[in-house]
Amino acid sequence: MDAVKHGLAAGAASRPQRADWTIDQGWSAYTPEEHAVWKTLFERQSRLLPGRACDEFVEGMKKLPIGPEQIPDFRELSEVLMERTGWQVVAVPGLVPDEVFFEHLAHRRFPAGHFIRKPHELDYLEEPDVFHDVFGHVPMLMNPAIADYIQAYGEGGLRAQKLGVLDKLARVYWYTVEFGLVRQAEGLRVYGAGIASSYTETVFALEDASPNRIGFDLERVMRTHYRIDDFQESYFVIDNLDRLLELARIDFAPIYERIAGQPDHQPGTVLPGDEVITPGTGQYHRGRRG
Ligand SMILES: [Fe+2]
Repeated sequence: MDAVKHGLAAGAASRPQRADWTIDQGWSAYTPEEHAVWKTLFERQSRLLPGRACDEFVEGMKKLPIGPEQIPDFRELSEVLMERTGWQVVAVPGLVPDEVFFEHLAHRRFPAGHFIRKPHELDYLEEPDVFHDVFGHVPMLMNPAIADYIQAYGEGGLRAQKLGVLDKLARVYWYTVEFGLVRQAEGLRVYGAGIASSYTETVFALEDASPNRIGFDLERVMRTHYRIDDFQESYFVIDNLDRLLELARIDFAPIYERIAGQPDHQPGTVLPGDEVITPGTGQYHRGRRG
């Protein structure tokens, strides 16, 4: 099982010195063992992703200084990203408070955990580490649609916080940036970083009979709870990444108003209005609930 929580409030104990929570990546301090964990994860995931990751992910990865031998240096990543989409990668100690996270995204800075998981926790981590953040997110930031969409999410997050509707917006991020699937010529493909950086969830999201795969609908997703500690029960599918650009331009305020007071949906529920691409058996999560 994989689990990565994103953008959730961090403990005050880990508050670093700088107001924006950034730290130096400290690249030269990585140990050979830490680079070796990266290598294991990189090679395992690189074998799995052909035919499973979307074209844009593969394309982005190819152009970045990311390889098996060492944990990437954020300065080198930022140089390439900056030229391509105006983004940079900044190091943070782990989860940061929501407003800090949004502020970074709104300014095209992607906060990435600088630490790497331990060899015994390859498939489970509590906080996003450098493998999740860099391998999973950074290739997609090379794509102009995703680049604009995530910036808009940062801006939208700051607004949603003031309106008290952050939970609704966070679901949109969750079911797109983290756990989104996209229809491509050859079939469904992964673009969400939570899936793309996870060996087990890549297989589960695309090939397992258990989860629902449902056409993406903004209001529907805003009203849908998600799992933070297990595979998703439903994945939402967009037709192409440009759909995210359209989303980035929508004013969410009237939608928040419209859905205020309406009931939320459970993660595994299929609704009468859903465009069901593959109905899930639900077997996996039934077994977990045991
Ligand atoms: Fe993430």
